[in-house]
Amino acid sequence: MARSNDELRAGALAVLEKNRRSRYTVPAEGLYPYQWCWDSGPIALGWAAAGRWDEAWTELDTLLEGQWSTGMVPHIIFWEPSPDYFPGPDVWETEHDPPTTGITQPPLPVTAAARLFHDDPDRDRARTQLANLWPRLVAWLRWVDRARRGPHGAAVVVHPWESGMDNSPRWDAALDRCPSKTHERLERRDVATVSAKERPTDAEYRRFLGIVDVLRRDGWDTERQAEVSPFAIEDVMFTAITCRAAGDLHAAGIAAGLDTDGLADIERTMRDAIGALWDQKTGWFQSFDVRAERPVESLTAGGLTALWARASTPEQTEEQLRRVDRWMRIVEHGIPSSDPTDVTFEPRRYWRGPVWVLLNWMIADGLAAADHEDRAEGLRVTTHALVADAGFCEYFDPTNGEGIGGQGFSWTAALTLAWLTAD
Ligand code: GLC
Repeated sequence: MARSNDELRAGALAVLEKNRRSRYTVPAEGLYPYQWCWDSGPIALGWAAAGRWDEAWTELDTLLEGQWSTGMVPHIIFWEPSPDYFPGPDVWETEHDPPTTGITQPPLPVTAAARLFHDDPDRDRARTQLANLWPRLVAWLRWVDRARRGPHGAAVVVHPWESGMDNSPRWDAALDRCPSKTHERLERRDVATVSAKERPTDAEYRRFLGIVDVLRRDGWDTERQAEVSPFAIEDVMFTAITCRAAGDLHAAGIAAGLDTDGLADIERTMRDAIGALWDQKTGWFQSFDVRAERPVESLTAGGLTALWARASTPEQTEEQLRRVDRWMRIVEHGIPSSDPTDVTFEPRRYWRGPVWVLLNWMIADGLAAADHEDRAEGLRVTTHALVADAGFCEYFDPTNGEGIGGQGFSWTAALTLAWLTAD
């Protein structure tokens, strides 16, 4: 039964409270028992929307305590030991303190920091907190800029886990060429709590681990990963999030009187790179496989995040939206994370079809800025209905609206507070 906005807000806050540990918030109890990098961005915004400013700022501060000296912010920080997750610190062996993985995720928390600064009613706190995070936020973007530029100038991901969209069909061809860890028993814990039909396959996991092996053998040198990894893709979504992060940080830095050197350049060159990834043939922004030296062919919602970076021209936006309209004749609930007309489409399997609140939020934000306010509001209303009917699920089946994956999922709850029920 659909919940009222008051019920939704109370329920969303209860999810964040339940998932909060001492100085950070886990994405979902059991399934994801550590701090995840890009999740911390929307989570901080959720705490802020609930008026819980200390938790909001602390979330980002704690994340950046895991930053490496190169500026890289790891995709998981293993703050406390847990039997619930694989692969844990013993597989990564990064020898970092605190224990972390050795790969990153999109720098969405940078945008969150800029937004907290903008919105925090306590201006002294806003200035102090931004100044505290500042050198680390800048170092993060400088690292992406320095170590992760591909042939078009876009940001390169060296592992599907770095993209945030782990098993997206856009990785299939590249992943097939990666080594597979075939000789060991997989200790997967995720399928103990969520149906295996809604998670990546074992074959994908074996290749995910095969790439980890290569990077570990290379000594986790975060300056070289783009050359060393068997998997190297200039990704539209990672680039769009970096571009937006640089722009948002630049604006916040100017307002706060901080040194913004280089940020405008990162924003501009990332935006140009997204433009260079426009694929005329499909009318879509397409990631580029650096190893195979060709554009990725599968159409996924990642291409729509060019809007989040304000990198899509009006014509490109129209063309992409025409395709989304065709998708919406096939599925009931949008936006599917990948092309429902393609053979790879699986409406219940993670990033191969389900609707994700985080993607819808970024796309709606971009649509509103691109003079498509009606569509942006339409997307908010359909996303609201999914959550109001099914709860704070990790993702939703676009064919019937069912809530699937992990339950009590932090970013779904956080964006319910910051977007779906905000005034
Ligand atoms: C999964 C998602 C990733 C997210 C993580 C924690 O690995 O694919 O995007 O950050 O779970 O929620």
